[in-house]
Amino acid sequence: MTRIYVTRMIADSALARLGEIGEVRVWPEDRPVPREILIQEAAEADAMLTILTEQIDSTLLAATPRLKVISNVAVGYDNIDVHAASQRRLPIGNTPGVLTETTADLAFALMLAAARRLPEGEQYVKQGHWTTWSPSLLLGRDLYGATLGIIGFGRIGQAVARRAHGFSMRVIYHGGRAQAEIPAEQRPLDDLLRESDFISLHVPLKPETQRLIGTRELSLMKPTAILVNTARGSVIDPVALYVALRSGRIWAAALDVTDPEPIPLSDPLLTLPNCLIVPHLGSATVATREKMAHRAVDNVLAGLRGERLPYCVNPDIYE
Ligand code: DGY
Repeated sequence: MTRIYVTRMIADSALARLGEIGEVRVWPEDRPVPREILIQEAAEADAMLTILTEQIDSTLLAATPRLKVISNVAVGYDNIDVHAASQRRLPIGNTPGVLTETTADLAFALMLAAARRLPEGEQYVKQGHWTTWSPSLLLGRDLYGATLGIIGFGRIGQAVARRAHGFSMRVIYHGGRAQAEIPAEQRPLDDLLRESDFISLHVPLKPETQRLIGTRELSLMKPTAILVNTARGSVIDPVALYVALRSGRIWAAALDVTDPEPIPLSDPLLTLPNCLIVPHLGSATVATREKMAHRAVDNVLAGLRGERLPYCVNPDIYE
């Protein structure tokens, strides 16, 4: 009997497709699977459908004799030791494409919310401070006419750039390559940091992007700069960010991702009015999460049939 382990509840229609080919076991709680249970389930599984809270490392992989495929319901896969998986020719799937526009929408929502101080405005109203219209109340920054620096010009970065043109922003980028139809100029990283009014991060988490934005990079930014992160929390040094926001070295930050995640309530970033934080919602729409679940199931089904995964992060294993 084929066994498929699913580490969090996903769309029923996607689970039903898995149910047609084997026994599906789903971790029923809305919290990460405890490590001992994950190891136990992985040891008996032919396929695993995982999410980014599960650490799939070499120790776990060493105890999975039957496993033919791991399919992550995310475009990012920094929770998986791909090198260890490739060494035993285990294909790893992800879900690119279907979440591009949804994540770009969130990056833009964060940019607007931070620039126009929406969280502060909401608190101001709800706490009963709104007694008059004031010429100096909660003044923000314009997107119109501003320069947006995009770090990581892949699918999502380019989708953010398309939105930026609708706001008459000038777009510059570092990393990745522009499609001809997107007007954007490439810059070395330091030049981008110096020139941008808004900086939006869209790089995958890799050793070379870990702490890409630290004290030195923050010191190059304009004092009016707004930093937006919808990539991975560890791309920014959180201590350096706190110091830069607190001292007014940069104007504001808006984070969908933090390091660690979830951010502890004691984290000093949560005390800053110029730091907006939401709980990793980049791909969080009903339609997109359903598409991600189905894309992940496509990978599981192909892997179990011994076919090449349609969305594979380690295609070298097929060579
Ligand atoms: C991803 O896909 O990598 C996001 O972080 C979650 O949707």
